[in-house]
Amino acid sequence: MRAVGRVRARPKPSAARYLPARQSYASLRAAAADCHGCDLYKHATQTVFGEGKVRAPVMFVGEVPGDVEDLTGHVFVGPAGRLLRKAMEAAGLDARDVYMTNAVKHFKFVERGKRRIHQKPKRIEIQACRPWLEAEIDLVKPHIVLALGAVAAGALLGPSFRLSHHRGEFVRSNTGARIMATMHPSAILRAPDSAARRKATARLVNDLRTIARSLRQK
Ligand code: URA
Repeated sequence: MRAVGRVRARPKPSAARYLPARQSYASLRAAAADCHGCDLYKHATQTVFGEGKVRAPVMFVGEVPGDVEDLTGHVFVGPAGRLLRKAMEAAGLDARDVYMTNAVKHFKFVERGKRRIHQKPKRIEIQACRPWLEAEIDLVKPHIVLALGAVAAGALLGPSFRLSHHRGEFVRSNTGARIMATMHPSAILRAPDSAARRKATARLVNDLRTIARSLRQK
């Protein structure tokens, strides 16, 4: 009779073991550049770590870097980033007050001919990348965190959070920061026509204005 061996559970993918012992912005960014905590690094060009002033009062959390971000290594520099920065300007929110990052730090895509089409990260990939996001929140200690889109909202507020019900509302978190969720600028770019795009942009500007006003009241 064959001996029945014990089946060893495969460890869950996680970035945890790549985190440096002493955490500064520079050490975190350098360590994240070599993260193999899940398989997404295999196809992406590079890790796209968060950027902005350490100790910025506001942190934006997007979903995952896009094509341009993957190629340049910088957050929110593609079409969605341009829309976001214009909306910040319209809302009177100073970009120097905002640290920007993503729930997942490697571009996830499928190739269609010459194009690389963004793919939504899986829950297991978001969880694997979570140690980086937690380390950024610990370091920056933002007063306000803005989740851009449902993926970031789920990562920050749990899978039961409904963006459609609670968009634009402040929620207290156990980090001490107040968290708001709004529509992702990429979703605005995908709106079916220019009227819908204008309406969605106006709502984004409105949410950013709420944040700018809240900063001024501090
Ligand atoms: N979309 C994101 O969520 N993040 C980026 O950095 C760019 C596009």
